[in-house]
Amino acid sequence: METHEINKRFLDHFESRGHTPVPSASLILDDPTLLFVNAGMVQFKPYFLGEVPPPYPRATSIQKCVRTGDIDEVGKTTRHNTFFQMAGNFSFGDYFKEGAIEHAWELITKSQADGGFGFDPDRIWVTVYEDDSEAAGLWRKVAGIPSERIQARGMEDNFWSMGVPGPCGPSSEIYYDRGAKFGRDGGPVVDEDRYLEIWNLVFMQNIRGEGHGKRDFPIVGELPAKNIDTGMGVERVAYLLQGVENVYETDLVRPVIGKAEEFSGRRYGADHADDVRFRVIADHARSGVMLIGDGVTPGNEARGYVLRRLLRRIVRSVRLLGVHEPVLPEFAKVVRDAMAPSYPEIARDFDRISEVMRVEEEAFLATLTSGSKIFDLAAEETKKSGGTILAGDKAFQLHDTYGFPIDLTLEMAEEQGLSVDEGGFRTLMEEQRQRAKADAAARKKGHGDLSVYRQLLERHGETGFLGYTDLQADAKVLALLKDGAAVGSVKVGDKAELILDRTPFYAESGGQVADTGVLIASGGEAKVYDVQKIVPGLWVHRVEVTSGEIGVDTAVTGSVDAYRRAAIARSHSATHLVHAAVRGAYGRRAAQAGSLNSPGRMRFDFTTPGPVSADLLTEVEEEVNDYLLTNVEVETYVTTKDKALELGAVALFGEKYGNDVRVVDMGDYSRELCGGTHVGRIGELGLVKLVGDSSIGSGVHRVEALVGQDALKHVRKEQLLVSQLASTLKVPTAELPGRVDDVLARLRNAEKEIEQLRTQQVLGSAGSLADKAQDVDGVALVAERVDGEVDANGLRALAMEVRNRLGVRPGVVALFAPQGEKVAFVVATTAAARDKGFAAGKLVPAFGPAVGGRGGGKPDMAQGGGTNPAGVDQAIGALRDALARG
Ligand code: ALA
Repeated sequence: METHEINKRFLDHFESRGHTPVPSASLILDDPTLLFVNAGMVQFKPYFLGEVPPPYPRATSIQKCVRTGDIDEVGKTTRHNTFFQMAGNFSFGDYFKEGAIEHAWELITKSQADGGFGFDPDRIWVTVYEDDSEAAGLWRKVAGIPSERIQARGMEDNFWSMGVPGPCGPSSEIYYDRGAKFGRDGGPVVDEDRYLEIWNLVFMQNIRGEGHGKRDFPIVGELPAKNIDTGMGVERVAYLLQGVENVYETDLVRPVIGKAEEFSGRRYGADHADDVRFRVIADHARSGVMLIGDGVTPGNEARGYVLRRLLRRIVRSVRLLGVHEPVLPEFAKVVRDAMAPSYPEIARDFDRISEVMRVEEEAFLATLTSGSKIFDLAAEETKKSGGTILAGDKAFQLHDTYGFPIDLTLEMAEEQGLSVDEGGFRTLMEEQRQRAKADAAARKKGHGDLSVYRQLLERHGETGFLGYTDLQADAKVLALLKDGAAVGSVKVGDKAELILDRTPFYAESGGQVADTGVLIASGGEAKVYDVQKIVPGLWVHRVEVTSGEIGVDTAVTGSVDAYRRAAIARSHSATHLVHAAVRGAYGRRAAQAGSLNSPGRMRFDFTTPGPVSADLLTEVEEEVNDYLLTNVEVETYVTTKDKALELGAVALFGEKYGNDVRVVDMGDYSRELCGGTHVGRIGELGLVKLVGDSSIGSGVHRVEALVGQDALKHVRKEQLLVSQLASTLKVPTAELPGRVDDVLARLRNAEKEIEQLRTQQVLGSAGSLADKAQDVDGVALVAERVDGEVDANGLRALAMEVRNRLGVRPGVVALFAPQGEKVAFVVATTAAARDKGFAAGKLVPAFGPAVGGRGGGKPDMAQGGGTNPAGVDQAIGALRDALARG
């Protein structure tokens, strides 16, 4: 049975039993506790917690999930996967244990002819939470499973939570016995390979607190209702029903391996090391496509970094299979063809997905090439010095600068017969990780612990946002936090965080900076300098009390700095227009990768296929400013996500819970899902002036623009600069470029002339230097200090000139040029001296240390530098001794 058919049967089964089918949520649902969605219940969390009334009593979904805890294990076994699909049915205070058991049992045991999965009931085992005799009884009653195939397990195995504070509850798991060939008798408590878990039924009824692991946390309360959350592993059911042994052999994954076989000419199943690579490619290609599909772009932090790691691991595995061409877009095609029947958006958005992959692969291949050079050098040095261990800092540099995963360095080292100081590498990595963690914590401004905010949200509900229409509003202070702890009041001079029941202040999000302003109460006043939604729905105002005192429960009037807000709105609207213009130029292949909307200035990052020409940016600027003249009204409305996508709205970023989305239209030119604040009519922007564009790595391009008065100020400043230059250079502005070229050309000529004069002067001393030659055992030695301005090139030219003058004699010339704290030196030998065995490069170690330096070169000429100019005489002596020794 094909995987898509399994998904379809699952949804049909539950739909015909009163469940509303709900599409999979984005993998990057806006939940601060999660990097990626990792279970079907995530999008329903607010319903379980009672934060939002559920729109339906029962739901069913096939949720795309990514779990990245064990990326490194993927491929080594057939068990680990980063991407998988979880089929689930959910009851929000509707049916409970009995219903859940009934529905699941029916679907798995119903014959395939009748639309079920047709598993043999005698091979089904179940586990229940240790004191849940109710569930055990129901399995006997509803499914007729005998007691010996019902096993009780503890918290570790049969109590489910998201791993973070939130809904949780005891669970009951359904296992399928694959037979004696796969392991020992005795049920899932003995062998989880033979007895394969296919479905987890969670009786969601409690709330867990902060803690660790699967056991070590408190239960802090009851959910408002008894709910059901289940998760069936689609991939596992697929490989059981397809009669294959693991997920890599299933219809959705095997084709990618097939493609890799085709590229490499090697065969899956022939060699363990290659098999690991095949599996890495198959798993990661699927996760990569799905993540990019949901708007993740490769980067150096958080989600972007995970994606980058996945893609780079593919490229590397492919190389180890002996393929050197770019391959990611090809794998992406195979994934698209496999996944599109269940996820049509992957096919719709394929050009962009493929482009993101292509750009990332190209960037990595380039670093792979330059990194390989660094690696070769390091390996050579290690071997030359007689070592067998590549230094940890080299491995770290390769990782940090060239994006080399450590296992790549390990493999390359092994090929050269070297090992790597992994301990040293890990120490440096750990140091870096600590630094990054400290940075991240600082960025979040001390909000590592979100529980206090979650509790506030639970107690008071979401903050009402009035700021789309009102810049001033009356509100009530619901809570005050000082240094992270709740306080009753704050007084002049205090910095605090303040929660209101409703607010006109926009909290930073979607690239738009937070509003600032003031809060006025009868007893005091405060300045609002930042507003953050630390947990979704809760506006946290960061304030400094400027007079009197403000307490919990007092009434305040909040006023947004309207002038600043207007400038922010202009920026944000400008960003939408620039985005539309960029897409107009590049089509859907230009994807937004980030933006910042601050007063008067906007920044917009996008990925592009290749470089961005200056002409194109001029066009973008012109088009946007042309469109401003239409002065169309900016319209905003709330609609369903499906409807918005149908209307062609551009949506890529951090989707929100629920199905309602806000759309911002600017005529027929731009339509985006956006929660930001905008101008009323686009004419208000006045002028949009692009002021810079730059590449910020890996195919991501950045445009910055100034808007309104700020744009005008910028233009005026540039104008002033130009007229200042014109007056300094004494030409009309139109002739500036010609005059600057002129001046530069003259400067270059003058520099050349000086250089020549200097060389002549230096070379002029060659004759007198040659005359100073002393005989050391039949070798003419000129070893002298050269004073005055002479650079390394000049010094070398001089040494050659002196050597020429020594003619056919055996001769060695060593010149030292002290320059402040340093000294440069050069050694040259005549052919006759080389015949006697004096190679310039070999002489350096004899005298170099005396001037605190090193250097090297060929037999006829060697160069170097040191840090001890006072040692020149000693060096000359050392050289003479070396010649005397022969
Ligand atoms: N939420 C449960 C799980 O992920 C069903 O296993």
